[in-house]
Amino acid sequence: MKFKTIEWKGDRVRMLDQRRLPQEVRYLDCRSASSVAEAIRTMAIRGAPAIGVAAAMGIALAAKRIRSNQPKMFQKNLERVCDEMSQTRPTAVNLFWAVNRMKKMLNLVHVDGVEKTRHRLIQEALRIYKEDVEINKKIGENGKRLIHSGDGILTHCNAGALATGGFGTALGVIYAARDEGKQFEVFVDETRPMLQGCRLTAWELVQEKIPATLITDNMAGVLMKKGLVNLVVVGADRIARNGDTANKIGTYSLAILSKAHGIPFYVAAPTSTLDPSLVSGEEIPIEERDMAEVTHFRGYPIAPKGVKAFNPAFDVTPHSLIHGIITEKGIIGKPYERNLKRIGA
Ligand code: MRU
Repeated sequence: MKFKTIEWKGDRVRMLDQRRLPQEVRYLDCRSASSVAEAIRTMAIRGAPAIGVAAAMGIALAAKRIRSNQPKMFQKNLERVCDEMSQTRPTAVNLFWAVNRMKKMLNLVHVDGVEKTRHRLIQEALRIYKEDVEINKKIGENGKRLIHSGDGILTHCNAGALATGGFGTALGVIYAARDEGKQFEVFVDETRPMLQGCRLTAWELVQEKIPATLITDNMAGVLMKKGLVNLVVVGADRIARNGDTANKIGTYSLAILSKAHGIPFYVAAPTSTLDPSLVSGEEIPIEERDMAEVTHFRGYPIAPKGVKAFNPAFDVTPHSLIHGIITEKGIIGKPYERNLKRIGA
C-alpha cells in the first residue's frame, strides 16, 4: 500500500485522517489516549479492525504517559482509559476484543510491576497491529479463488486497507486476486450517508490501479439485473455465533438483491470479528448516529429544516443470505454455528 492507515510513533499514534479523503491526504498525530478516542468517535479512523488497533495503541500511549509507579494507581488509570475506548463506538466487536487483550496484560501489573507491564502493553498493541496485517493477507489468500478474470465484483462501504491495520478484508480478497494476475471490474457502492465507498474504497482502488466503477447505493439492483455482477463481497463489524452479520447500513439490502439475482454473497472478516457470546444478530448493538449525517452533507443542509431522519450506522444480514465467511482460517460455510465453533470461535 502506498499509505499507512495507522502507525505507532513511540510518543504518538499517527493515522491517515479519513474524514478528509479523498480531497486531502493528511495525517493526524494523536498524542493522548483521549485524542485517539476522539479520532475513533469522529471517524478519522474507522472500520472494525482499524478501530481495534487504534484503541490498543491509544491504551499503550496512556501506559507510556502515566507517571505513577504504584501498580494499583497504574491499573486504575488505565482501566479508565479502557472504558473511554470502549465507549467510542458500540457495534464493531474488534474494538472490545482489542481492549480485552490489553486488559489481560494490564492485570499482570500486580505480579510483574509497572515498568514491565508498561512495556508489555506497548508490545501487545504492536502485536495486535502486526497480526491484523498478516491476517488480512491470509483472508486474501483464502478468498482469491472466488474471483475469476472477467468478473464484476460489487462491494459496499470500505473494508480495505483503510479499515484495517493494512491490506483489507473484502478488498484484501480483491488485491490478492489482482496479485495473481486476474483482471476484473469492481463496482463500488457509494455508501450513504458517510460515503465510505465513494470517498475511501474508490480512492484505494484508484491508488491500486484496479478498474473501479462507482455507483449510488440504489443502482446495485439494475447492475445485477444486467448481469454485470458475479460476486458480492463485503466486510463485517460483528458476527454472531449463528453467522448473522452486522456490517455497514445497506449490506442487508444488497444481500437480498444478491439472493433475488442468484449472485453469491460473501463476508470477509478476521476471526476477531466473531462474537460467539451472541446467539444471533438480534443481540448485536447497532450504533445510531447523528441525524445531521443524513440531513446535511459536510455541514451543508440537503433536507428541509425540521424533517426527522433515521440514521442507523449498521444493519444485520441474516446468515441464510450469506454464502460463506472468508476468514484467515479458511472460507466457512453453513451451518455456521457448527463450522464457526470448529475453527475455535
Ligand atoms: O462506520 P464504519 O466506516 O466504521 O463502518 C465500517 C464497515 O462497516 C466495514 O465494512 C467493516 O468495519 C469491515 S472493515 C474491514
